[in-house]
Amino acid sequence: MNSKVIISKSHEELLEHFAGILVGGLKNRNDHYNIALSGGSTPKLLNKYLAEKCRFGISWEKIKFFWGDERCVPPDDDESNYKMSYETLLSKIDIPAENIFRIHGENDPEKESARYSEILKHNIPSFNDLPEFDLVMLGLGEDGHTASIFGNSISLFETGNLCAAAGHPLTRQKRITLTGTVINNARQVVFLVAGKSKMSVVDTILNKKTGFDRLPASYVNPDHGELIWLLDEQAAGLLKRF
Ligand code: 6PG
Repeated sequence: MNSKVIISKSHEELLEHFAGILVGGLKNRNDHYNIALSGGSTPKLLNKYLAEKCRFGISWEKIKFFWGDERCVPPDDDESNYKMSYETLLSKIDIPAENIFRIHGENDPEKESARYSEILKHNIPSFNDLPEFDLVMLGLGEDGHTASIFGNSISLFETGNLCAAAGHPLTRQKRITLTGTVINNARQVVFLVAGKSKMSVVDTILNKKTGFDRLPASYVNPDHGELIWLLDEQAAGLLKRF
């Protein structure tokens, strides 16, 4: 696996780096470019940045949008990752409706995981017999979760399933998530992490400190792709080696 850590002085710089990765990836693709979006506060900032600064600079119609995870709520609920992505980015850019593949959070989670797995199989080219995303965008929880893979479901990095029903261990909110198997089959996986509340978990994962192996994000290691950690200086506050 090829991995790198990029530390930015400001949010703006971190978001610029992501935009650069997206533009670079799009250039190398003649057909559709498949991206999995994320929920969370830093991905939300990114969406706003892309809508404002890159509205006309990106061939949006080439991109097919999927989600890394969804909360089990209707699409007009404030908790919906789709709603957040739609309001901050998708409604602001020129993109055909058929390029948007949302997870139906309003459906039964098990059935929806099966339905969305079929959507992935039929719409994303495969590699190693698995859908191969061009880019998976991920946030990082203070507890080390990513997408909706929490500490009690690290086995989702070893399953043969593409999607799974999950639950937030504290709030019990039901979720639907891509499994680690699909995430690790992507060409590029990018963590977007900002703020000092994340510095301890970032240090534990990247410096393999005690307990790193209990944190789901430690298992994000694309098999043949590239892993990029985009951090701001606060989130990187305890890193020494990079
Ligand atoms: C979600 C997520 C989740 C999120 C992290 C980080 O829907 O909640 O996809 O994995 O990205 O919890 O979220 P924050 O950036 O808000 O801390």
